[in-house]
Amino acid sequence: MSLIKYINLQELGDDRGGLVAIEELTHIPFSLKRVYYIFGTKAGVERGFHAHKELIQMAVCVKGSCTMMLDNGDEKADVKLDSSSKGILIEPMVWHEMRDFSSDCVLLVLASDVYDEADYVRDYNEFLLMRE
Ligand code: TYD
Repeated sequence: MSLIKYINLQELGDDRGGLVAIEELTHIPFSLKRVYYIFGTKAGVERGFHAHKELIQMAVCVKGSCTMMLDNGDEKADVKLDSSSKGILIEPMVWHEMRDFSSDCVLLVLASDVYDEADYVRDYNEFLLMRE
C-alpha cells in the first residue's frame, strides 16, 4: 500500500476564475460527515502530530501552501500541498504533521466522520505499537 495517495481534483474554472467540486464517493473514497479548515496559522507553527484509528480524511490547500509529513510506521514522506486541485488522502493509522504554513494558507479537510477524540492516537510510541 502506497503511503502517498494524491487526489487530483478537476479544475472547472473558466475565464471568470477557479472552481473545484468535490463529491463524496466520486472524488473522495468515503462518505462525508465533516468539513473543517485551518487558516491564519502563525509563523513557525506545527500542527497535527497524531493518527486516527478509523477516520479517513482528504486535505487540500485551497489557498497558499503547507507541508504535510505522512508516516505509516514503516516509511515517512513529506508532501507539499500547494495547489487547490491536488488533495492528499490521510488514511487511518497514518501519523501526520503539518508545517511550513504560508501566512495565507487555508487548508481544507474533508473527513469521513464527526469529531471524536477517542479516535485520535496522539502518542507516537503508542502509534508505533498499534501498527505492529
Ligand atoms: P486538533 O485536532 O488538536 O488540531 P491539529 O490539527 O493541530 O491536531 O484540534 C484542535 C482543537 O479543536 C481541539 O480542542 C479539538 C478541536 N476540534 C474540534 O472540536 N472539531 C474538529 O473537527 C477538529 C479537527 C478539532
